[in-house]
Amino acid sequence: MCGIFAYLNFNVERERRYILQILFDGLRRLEYRGYDSAGIAIDDSFSRHPDTSNHFSATSPPPFVFRQAGNIESLVKFVYQGIADIDLNLEEVFSSHAGIAHTRWATHGEPAPRNSHPQSSGPGDDFLVVHNGVITNYEVLKETLVRYGFTFSSETDTEVIPKLAKFVFDNANVEGEQTVTFCQVVFEVMRHLEGAYALIFKSRHYPNELIACKHGSPLLLGVKELARDRNDNAVFQDSHFISKSEHPKELFLSSDAHAIVEHTKKVLVIEDGEVVHLKDGCVSILKFANEKGRQGGLSRPASVERALSVLEMEVEQINKGKYEHYMQKEIHEQPESLTTTMRGRLIRGGGSYKSKTVLLGGLKDHLKTIRRSRRIVFIGCGTSYNAALASRPILEELSGIPVSMEIASDLLDRQGPIYREDTAIFVSQSGETADTLLALEYARKNGALCVGVTNTVGSAIARNTHCGVHINAGAEIGVASTKAYTSQIVVMVMVALAIGGDTISNQARREAIIEGLLDLPNKAREVLKLDQEMKELAKLLIDEQSLLVFGRGYNYATALEGALKVKEIALMHSEGLLAGEMKHGPLALVDENLPIVVIATRDNCFSKQQSVIQQLHARKGRLIVMCSKGDGASVCPSGSCRAIEVPQVEDCLQPVVNILPLQLLAYHLTVLRGHNVDQPRNLAKSVTTQ
Ligand code: M6R
Repeated sequence: MCGIFAYLNFNVERERRYILQILFDGLRRLEYRGYDSAGIAIDDSFSRHPDTSNHFSATSPPPFVFRQAGNIESLVKFVYQGIADIDLNLEEVFSSHAGIAHTRWATHGEPAPRNSHPQSSGPGDDFLVVHNGVITNYEVLKETLVRYGFTFSSETDTEVIPKLAKFVFDNANVEGEQTVTFCQVVFEVMRHLEGAYALIFKSRHYPNELIACKHGSPLLLGVKELARDRNDNAVFQDSHFISKSEHPKELFLSSDAHAIVEHTKKVLVIEDGEVVHLKDGCVSILKFANEKGRQGGLSRPASVERALSVLEMEVEQINKGKYEHYMQKEIHEQPESLTTTMRGRLIRGGGSYKSKTVLLGGLKDHLKTIRRSRRIVFIGCGTSYNAALASRPILEELSGIPVSMEIASDLLDRQGPIYREDTAIFVSQSGETADTLLALEYARKNGALCVGVTNTVGSAIARNTHCGVHINAGAEIGVASTKAYTSQIVVMVMVALAIGGDTISNQARREAIIEGLLDLPNKAREVLKLDQEMKELAKLLIDEQSLLVFGRGYNYATALEGALKVKEIALMHSEGLLAGEMKHGPLALVDENLPIVVIATRDNCFSKQQSVIQQLHARKGRLIVMCSKGDGASVCPSGSCRAIEVPQVEDCLQPVVNILPLQLLAYHLTVLRGHNVDQPRNLAKSVTTQ
């Protein structure tokens, strides 16, 4: 996925230096979405280059476009160097100006300036576009445009968009007469695009205007209304509506709220098919009457009125605070994120047993249907899949319904059976993952009840499922998912409790789980004290090539997730294995050198794991055993291995506790091995392409 951002100031004076700063800060906030190349476009001024060659009187001089491979800081350096080279005045003041910016995670074409955004319509940069998503029919469009004389300079799918805009513009405006509006150009372009996109258009033919539109990929508009005080200074004015007047204002477009919240909390979540036009201090929203009919022919767009919503996010949530890395912060804030996940959802029951019960507002109207399902299917990718796997046993136990597991891409590859009697639960931190989204489309087509478990309010998965539960873990910025994982498990345990319902036979079990949930933040706090111990362990493992993690039962998922963390950020080969499978192959790898983590906390699999430990000892395995508090001496007699002791909790909650030391281990290994913690090689926070 990529990050797109734009800043438009209207009727309020801002220096070029300030505008650049806002664009760069926006990109820094979005950098976690993609970080292999970046770019911006800002205006030159009429005064510097009165453009007499152009037929269209309103046309502004070509903008400055800067594109660079590497992270945002390399773009920043490149831009300031470029500005110095052409002697551009950073103090020049613009009372209105529209700048756009992009941070990229390469999908079509290597990270290189030519493939970075803004992509251009060609010489003169008449139309510039920043894009998040994938245009699936770009090859056909490209062929057509080439036939009309366009030459392409990138390998991106995006380049067809500004070129198509120029084609539409040139053909609509005959004999030097500018008759077509910016909106009309964009509507016509959208009509030809297939795939997923969030786009921001900038054009020198429409100075100080921007157009944003989307289909599938997320996009928000932030609105900061300003008013004039007695001294004619622009001051902030709180409002739920966007003024239509000449009021000074600052407008921000962004792929997500992270880049907006420090400027304003008033936002408009742009919807699929909407075209948002920022012009002369007004924001007009136009939408095709029938979004589906869009590809078939140009229906007349209608104007839409919407009030602004208020972001619930705080700026502190997206800062690193006292931590060096986002991942470190997110690991350590799990006691709080778990509390927030449960807040208002565990309540005293009104039924005959007066016990505590679970209330999940987003599910309550669908519980009967879910209970009647023939099967529950968990669908997700990566960490989200692992969280679902960790919750599977308790869901099966409390609901009595068979639960099957599907990795989204594999379900799609197989076109596996999904029936109308199924409940499909889609688990995704971002709510944007392409495979999970496509699996959702597939499950809906097959008639299943679709439930979403996501961390992102308003995300595609949250919007397209029939019902769901938000995990409320707060912003997760590190690419390696940590606090979202533990909150996902907690939500799914609550889902299991809600589906299971109150019966006298399961009352004691339910009460124990609910008590365990309430105490979980304290237990997490206790485990996080192992930080230093995990750092010491990381020092011992720093030069290893490989690490195995054996788990079973509730903690098979812990083994998979612990190994995923290590490989993803510490860039060390690591494999999570089902301990029951050990003798069916992996045992051959065991020797005195290969480090092996065995998860052997107390639950119904404890004795089986003890026997695994013995067998590994017999083969002189180099073991690190995770065990319940007090068991260290017995699982590692006379220092035969290293023990990590964690508090024992209710079996279905143990994966939440057990993953924490492994997250810490992966974090410290990464730092010690000198790798990038928050932006691991080749990865982006969410994967919006298949
Ligand atoms: O946003 P999602 O939860 O749908 O993302 C799924 C995976 O891409 C994600 O969990 C990935 O595995 C993480 N980077 C792992 O830390």
